[in-house]
Amino acid sequence: MITVQTFRKRKQQGRKISMVTCYDFWSAKILNQSEIDCILVGDSVATVMHGFDSTVHATLDMMTMHVAAVARGATDKFIIADMPFLTCSKGLEPAMNAVQALMQAGATAVKVEGAAHQADLIAHIVEAGVPVMGHIGLTPQSIHNLGGHKVQGKSEGDAQRLINDARRLEQAGCFSIVLECIPNKLGDCVSRAVEVPTIGIGAGPHTDGQVLVLHDLLGANPDFSPKFLRRYANVHQLVKGAIDGYHEDVTARSFPALEETYG
Ligand code: KIV
Repeated sequence: MITVQTFRKRKQQGRKISMVTCYDFWSAKILNQSEIDCILVGDSVATVMHGFDSTVHATLDMMTMHVAAVARGATDKFIIADMPFLTCSKGLEPAMNAVQALMQAGATAVKVEGAAHQADLIAHIVEAGVPVMGHIGLTPQSIHNLGGHKVQGKSEGDAQRLINDARRLEQAGCFSIVLECIPNKLGDCVSRAVEVPTIGIGAGPHTDGQVLVLHDLLGANPDFSPKFLRRYANVHQLVKGAIDGYHEDVTARSFPALEETYG
């Protein structure tokens, strides 16, 4: 299993880190048998699994339930859990209670969105012995403030701010930083500016690792096709085909066959 120590080593060795989201026991068991380096129980669970329109709707109860399910399936993997919306902004005690709940549900580390206003809290969590992954660029919990899913860091000033943010997160003790939806060149600059590995999503090829939402890379949602997404399967077609096949067999009375029944 990858550890916080090996995260940094992998960057020094120039070996890329693979991360994918996971929200349930069934897919966690498959990921556990795969080569994937680490698993993110992202707050994207609110949109992907619960049908909400943003990650603002992820609650601590929702997150802990999914972390626990994933931890039961992915027993050999490094599991990062998202701190849900506003849990980092209501003061130290509620934030640490949320960290405790996620870690006791089975997480190995937590992920915190944002930089400048979170540095002190991140340092406190790290000092308490819990590894923290940072997340800058497009931070979906602030989607209403950002005015939608837009590429971040396009202007010189914004780019410099992101580089400073990454350094600040590193100083606060983050073992790794997610960079979401930023230009390729900035992905490269930020990755060079810090010693901890960066994990990109829509941040180009120069980050130290990549993360995708599992359902997106599997092609589960044909309506979602951002530029950065590469699909490795067409699960939507596969699942629909299987369900239609089952329906056809039931209605045609060819399922169950005699050998599929108890005598
Ligand atoms: O919740 C999530 O899926 C994420 C990734 C997009 C990095 O934070």
